[in-house]
Amino acid sequence: MVSTSTTILTGIKPTGTPHIGNYLGTIAPALRRAREFDHAYFFIADYHALNSVTDPQALRALTHSVAATWLAAGLDPAKIHFYRQSDISEIFELETILTTVTPKGWMNKMHAYKAQVDRNNEASKATDSGVNMGLYTYPLLMASDILIFQSNAVPVGKDQVQHVEIARDIAQRFNSEYKTTALTLPEYILEDGIEELPGLDGRKMSKSYGNTIPLFATRSEWEQSVKKIVTDSLTHTPETFRATTFYKLYAAIAPSESSERLVAAFTSGSIGWKDAKDQLVDALEARFGEASKTYMTLMADTSTIDTILHTSAGEIRTKARTTLESVKSAVGIR
Ligand code: TRP
Repeated sequence: MVSTSTTILTGIKPTGTPHIGNYLGTIAPALRRAREFDHAYFFIADYHALNSVTDPQALRALTHSVAATWLAAGLDPAKIHFYRQSDISEIFELETILTTVTPKGWMNKMHAYKAQVDRNNEASKATDSGVNMGLYTYPLLMASDILIFQSNAVPVGKDQVQHVEIARDIAQRFNSEYKTTALTLPEYILEDGIEELPGLDGRKMSKSYGNTIPLFATRSEWEQSVKKIVTDSLTHTPETFRATTFYKLYAAIAPSESSERLVAAFTSGSIGWKDAKDQLVDALEARFGEASKTYMTLMADTSTIDTILHTSAGEIRTKARTTLESVKSAVGIR
């Protein structure tokens, strides 16, 4: 068998400051997964973000904060190429070519677009009301992100599976139309092993519910947040205690021995909610305290982040150019 090197790639939309749910559900699994591959490409999808972030100051700040988050969470730029999408202009040239082999009907079927169409129909509005071309062609840009680096694997959550499938279909269509192997067919890796983390109010932890616990914070910020976890005044058995929002959060952060100790202490009545909450703050500090300092240092002088992102982009452009050149040559441009 011919041994070939493997490439993993994923894009991160800078649309919000990450919380512990993002860390446990996305960031940590992606960093673990990257170690299984020979090459890893993780990037900030700033062009994709323009579909929702329209304030330039906010976009700059979010780009830095998301980059600092991944770096503080352990992304080693010597091992994972970590760059801004906007620094690799080959992506956008490739996208233009890909539009010519992509049936419009494929885009009509994409979830994000269809969801907007459904909302419009329900509200008796025009079909495409509120739909920019950026939303409509979002999957094409994403396909280009993936294909430019000849990625084999793309770790995604459920909502992005369809986008990786369409990237594969587009690559396949290009290769067959031009009788070439210029584009590698990518596969998705569904990262759904993590049980949904509850937020402060017990619903899924989500920025849109305003029920998140910050990933990188000071002790007093964590205290403020943990105070808001909704608790009850019932008498608990180990079983009912383990079913509480509080316990699920604690167990997601602390080592399992500590979780067991907490169950024993709480259900025997030797500690109450106040002490339990203090212990959660301790656990947050133990797990994310050091990384929080790294995050704050990076954010205090964002030039380090910029240097890392630019250096990486410089290193990988040759690879992007090679893909683009073979695609251009396949179609007869050049
Ligand atoms: N669409 C992805 C999201 O919303 C972000 C993204 C952009 C991406 N380009 C990508 C993910 C390429 C994987 C591969 O989360």
